[in-house]
Order: sequence, then structure tokens, then C-alpha cells
Amino acid sequence: MYARIAGTGSYLPEKVLTNHDLEKLVDTSDKWITERTGIKKRHIAAEGETTCDMAEIAARRALEMAGRRAVDIDLIVLATTTPDKVFPSTACLLQKRLDIHGCAAFDIQAVCTGFVYALSIADRFIRTGGARCALVIGAEALSRLLDWTDRTTCVLFGDGAGAVMLEATDAPGIMSTHLHADGSYEHLLHVPAGVGQGYGRLIEGEAFMQMKGNEVFRMAVRTLGRIVDETLAANAIDKEDIDWIIPHQANHRIIEATAHKLKMSMDRVVVTIDEHGNTSAASIPLALDVAVRDGRIRRGEILIMEAFGGGFTWGSALLKY
Ligand code: ACO
Repeated sequence: MYARIAGTGSYLPEKVLTNHDLEKLVDTSDKWITERTGIKKRHIAAEGETTCDMAEIAARRALEMAGRRAVDIDLIVLATTTPDKVFPSTACLLQKRLDIHGCAAFDIQAVCTGFVYALSIADRFIRTGGARCALVIGAEALSRLLDWTDRTTCVLFGDGAGAVMLEATDAPGIMSTHLHADGSYEHLLHVPAGVGQGYGRLIEGEAFMQMKGNEVFRMAVRTLGRIVDETLAANAIDKEDIDWIIPHQANHRIIEATAHKLKMSMDRVVVTIDEHGNTSAASIPLALDVAVRDGRIRRGEILIMEAFGGGFTWGSALLKY
């Protein structure tokens, strides 16, 4: 038994913040942001627009493409770092919105690797007969975790959601997924707030992402090259067999460095970072949906997804679309 992607969907909030808009907020420039990151703009959730709102739109679009109805869904796995409530999970909030009842629904927290983690878990459910029609989503309202006076982080991130519908089939589909984490790097990338004593309180406008960007950058490039090699080796295939890389969209230079390391042409890499910045768990399904809908990615092609993020966490998925 395998899981295949039957439909994709995505959503970006209406409000756009360009690099030029940011020049008015912090000491930065369109030139610096473009050259160092590849980002030109990011989308920001409207006042009152929730992670669940964004997830619902992406999910309904994926359902529509798959030709499925919400009642067909028997598993919801939602990756987010910005849940609407401490509990219930955003996956449960989404289940209520979709007016379906009874199927398992839960959130995954692996920051920028969240979608790959969620996909891997849903794949394992399907392979072992625990689900036949799984909704997998990455949705983030990261703008609410940013210090808008800190130029080293606020220029990098944005809000959005992406989703896939997975179906059980007897031919691949997802061929393998690979998940890793190393919590000893907590201090390089974190939001020091929550409900744990000794941390700050999780209050919007008071809890901010902190990142040692340069050190994260070096680790990301090293690690992403390795995870792609691990994935190819596990499937006994060559780089030449890969039609598309769909990387987490954190920094254009990280994406290029990884492609270069693998000696893969940028023509085979889906890049959407210019349009929405780093949307954390939403970035891979957002990029996938764009490339599916514009006709670049076609049925039968081999895709590799790879991501690196807070934790540190990192992971990959190899699949036949
Ligand atoms: N505008 C102008 N100058 C800036 C800005 C800005 N927005 N931000 C930093 N600078 C300055 C710095 O102060 C520094 O100045 P100095 O040389 O006078 O000290 C200079 O630019 C260079 O700063 P670096 O941090 O060395 O810049 P770098 O080239 O490393 O780029 C960046 C920074 C874009 C953050 C990069 O390091 C990066 O992308 N890191 C990885 C991010 C990532 O992948 N995160 C993981 C996923 S995120 C998650 O999981 C939530």
C-alpha cells in the first residue's frame, strides 16, 4: 500500500508587505533583502484571520482538485508553529469547519520541517491501513511571532497555508520519508515563550522569534545536502532521476547552495520564496501547489522535498507525483 498526492491547494493572505514597505519600518533595503534572501514580498494575515482560516481555504482547494468531499477524509495532520489555541489543536478546529466528525485529527510542531513531518506521519498511517484519505496541511501566521523592530528576522517571514490530499493506492506515491532532529541547537532558533515556567509568556506582541541567522544558514546548507544524499541512497536512485526539488523556501542562497552541492540545475528546483518569504511549515505545499497548477509538475514525475528548521529539525520525502 502506498500514499499518492491526489490534490494540492494553497492560500496566501490578501495583505502584501513589500521590501520597500519594510524600508519604512526598519533599517533595511530592498537590495539587501533581495540579494541575501531572494525575498521580494510576504503576505500578512489580516486582523482576526487565523491559522485555521488559512488552512481551511488551502484544504478546500486540495479537496476540489482531488475530486473529493470532506466526508471522505479519515485523517487530518496539520503542521503549524502558530496554532490558534493552546488546545484544541488547529487540526480539530479545521475538522469542525469542514463539518466532519470522528476521524483522527492532530497538529505537528516541527517548525519549518513541519510539513515533511506531517506528510511522513500521514504516509505511515496509509501504508499500515490506518487511513485511506488523509488531509495534510502546513499553515502559519508567523507574522504574529515577529519583532517588527528586528531587521534580522522581520524581513524573512510571512503567512500562508498549503495542503495536499493523500489517497491510498497500490503503486507509489510516496516512496520514502526521512525525519531527523537535534534539540541541542535550541538556542540558535527559538521563540523563548510558552506556558513553561522560566520562559516568557506567549502574548502576541511580546513573544518573538530569535535566530542566529548566520549559524543556522551554515547548518542548513550542510544538512540539506546530506538529507538529499540519504534519500537517494535509501531508494537506490541517482540525482538524474529526480525531476523536481521542492525545497523549504527559507533563503534563495540556501536553495542554490543545496542545488549546487548536488550538482543539480536550478531549472529543476521550484522557487517561490520571492512571492511569500519563509512561511515555515506552509512553504513546501505552497511551492508544490504553484508548480502543479502552472503545469510544471506532471503526473509520473519524481519529486524530492527537503526542509530544515527550528529544533533543529530536518527531513525529506521522495515521491512519484
Ligand atoms: N537589512 C540590512 N542589513 C541587515 C539586515 C537587514 N534586514 N539583517 C541583518 N543585516 C546586517 C547584519 O547586521 C550584518 O551587519 P554587520 O556585518 O555590520 O554586522 C550584515 O547584515 C550581515 O548579517 P548576517 O546575519 O551575517 O547576514 P547573512 O548573509 O547570514 O544573512 C540571513 C542573514 C538572511 C538571516 C541568513 O543568515 C539566513 O537565511 N539564515 C538561515 C535562515 C533559515 O534557514 N532558518 C531556518 C528556518 S526558519 C524556522 O525554522 C522558523
